[in-house]
Amino acid sequence: SSVLASKDSPAIAVPSTSQALNVEINDWVTSSLSVVVVGASGDLAKKKIFPALFALYYEGLLPEEFQIFGYARSKMSDTDFRDLISSTLTCRIDAAEKCGDAQEKFLKRCFYQAGPYDDSSGFAQLNTKMSEQEVSKPRANRMFFLSIPPNVFIAAAGGAAEQCSSKTGWTRVIVEKPFGRDSTSSRELSDGLSRYLREDQTYRIDHYLGKELIENLTVLRFANLVFEPLWNRDYIKSVQVIFSENFGTEGRGGYFDQYGIIRDVIQNHLLQIVALFAMEPPVSLDAEDIRNEKVKVVRSMQPVQLDDVVLGQYKGRKEKNFNLPGYLDDATVPKGSLTPTFAAIAMHINNARWDGVPFLLKAGKALDNRRAEIRVQFRHIPGNIYKHKMGSNMDNTSNELVIRIQPKESIYLKINNKVPGLGLRLDSTKLDLQYQSTYKKELPDAYERLLLDVVNGDKRLFIRFDELEAAWELYTPMLHEIEAKKVAPELYPYGSRGPVGAHYLAAKYNVRWA
Ligand code: NDP
Ligand code: BG6
Repeated sequence: SSVLASKDSPAIAVPSTSQALNVEINDWVTSSLSVVVVGASGDLAKKKIFPALFALYYEGLLPEEFQIFGYARSKMSDTDFRDLISSTLTCRIDAAEKCGDAQEKFLKRCFYQAGPYDDSSGFAQLNTKMSEQEVSKPRANRMFFLSIPPNVFIAAAGGAAEQCSSKTGWTRVIVEKPFGRDSTSSRELSDGLSRYLREDQTYRIDHYLGKELIENLTVLRFANLVFEPLWNRDYIKSVQVIFSENFGTEGRGGYFDQYGIIRDVIQNHLLQIVALFAMEPPVSLDAEDIRNEKVKVVRSMQPVQLDDVVLGQYKGRKEKNFNLPGYLDDATVPKGSLTPTFAAIAMHINNARWDGVPFLLKAGKALDNRRAEIRVQFRHIPGNIYKHKMGSNMDNTSNELVIRIQPKESIYLKINNKVPGLGLRLDSTKLDLQYQSTYKKELPDAYERLLLDVVNGDKRLFIRFDELEAAWELYTPMLHEIEAKKVAPELYPYGSRGPVGAHYLAAKYNVRWA
């Protein structure tokens, strides 16, 4: 790897993987990078974006000359802004090395401009401020992160594009979900953004695609001979994709109530996982080849039917020593809201590979644990000569592959094994890859990976326009039907396993939730 350095930056090692990462080294030498966080005073900026930018800086993965600009309506000086960022940074990557010095240097590169989202005057001032800092290199690349509520997406994209587009380098804009509430509003949003931005400048983020085990999903399938031949209806009985959180919507009730769990998590994060899981092998790792396959498989899915959906909403739970609030106890949630905080959905893919295999998706807030995982249940062994040597539960005799996305990332395969010793008895045990003990290194946060991809112009992990359209087409009719019929969610206690209806749905497909 080569090393680039400047007076106030640590030596920047151009990673030897740079070619694989599609980094244009030459671009780094001749260009500066400005990252603008629009909505810099907000929750996501503080929780995810600033820490991720610092991690990339610390690891030498950002260009030699870069600066960060915060933009929001709140009034702040550069110093206030640096204090705000400073409170979000940790030295989690390398605590032993004391990254305090790096933090100081990082903060010196942070600047703030206050201004409205729906009026270009503030963006014009931002442009002046950016130009003042971008003097050391002949080219200036600019990257915007729209970390703001959806009602101001288009106005802010317009202000940024019209006033702050780079004259010498590229301009790229990251848009956070929600990308609309249904097909129509999503199309309106896309049309609005496309007035100011070309598709190649637009990066629609789905942070689940930046998670380590989701990136690994295609590696697991296509770089191992043992899985792909089994990846079809002949061997796989059912697939479960489970998202569970052991906390409620605390503090986000206002946002959540307009969307509900299906729009918040299932239509995007879980559907993206299913698409990567189920797509045909792409021609190459090129972003367009991968996204072509994802669109194809999403378009092969059946639009979700209401009788394949179970809705739930958590209710409060009072115990002797604690009192857990229900969804409706949140002051920002309208009284009597029917918004689901839990949903279980069966999806079906009408193609030769997956015909007849149910994909069961489940997502819920305020459940008994926090986990996200994919569970692949294989069919029973035909003519199993060991049938009588297994436990009484027939489910235990099938193999199961579990991809644990979080926490404690792991991949394990449940196999039948002889219990060691005299006699012949079989049990179900695991071939187990635990990331923590195998790789002994902290995994990058999804936002680190995705921000780096935007710097490098790599769109593999971002949602293309037609992919988004296809995803909404699957969910819009059912969401409208739920709203028109005012379907009441089944109540479940905070901290429970969710509504019993979910078990009936699984039973309909001869499946048991893990
Ligand atoms: P916030 O509600 O914290 O809003 C971000 C900033 O936008 C605020 O600091 C505020 O800045 C400004 N703002 C807030 N409400 C309004 C409004 N009604 N009109 C105009 N400006 C407003 O959002 P988050 O940071 O939580 O999220 C940003 C985006 O990311 C949203 O689209 C959200 O849906 C999405 N998202 C968030 C996640 C999270 O974990 N927080 C997770 C996934 C997606 P100021 O008043 O200073 O202008
Ligand atoms: C967000 C949802 O997209 O993902 C949240 O809006 C959810 O409701 C979050 O909590 C989960 O992300 P993670 O990375 O913590 O699993």
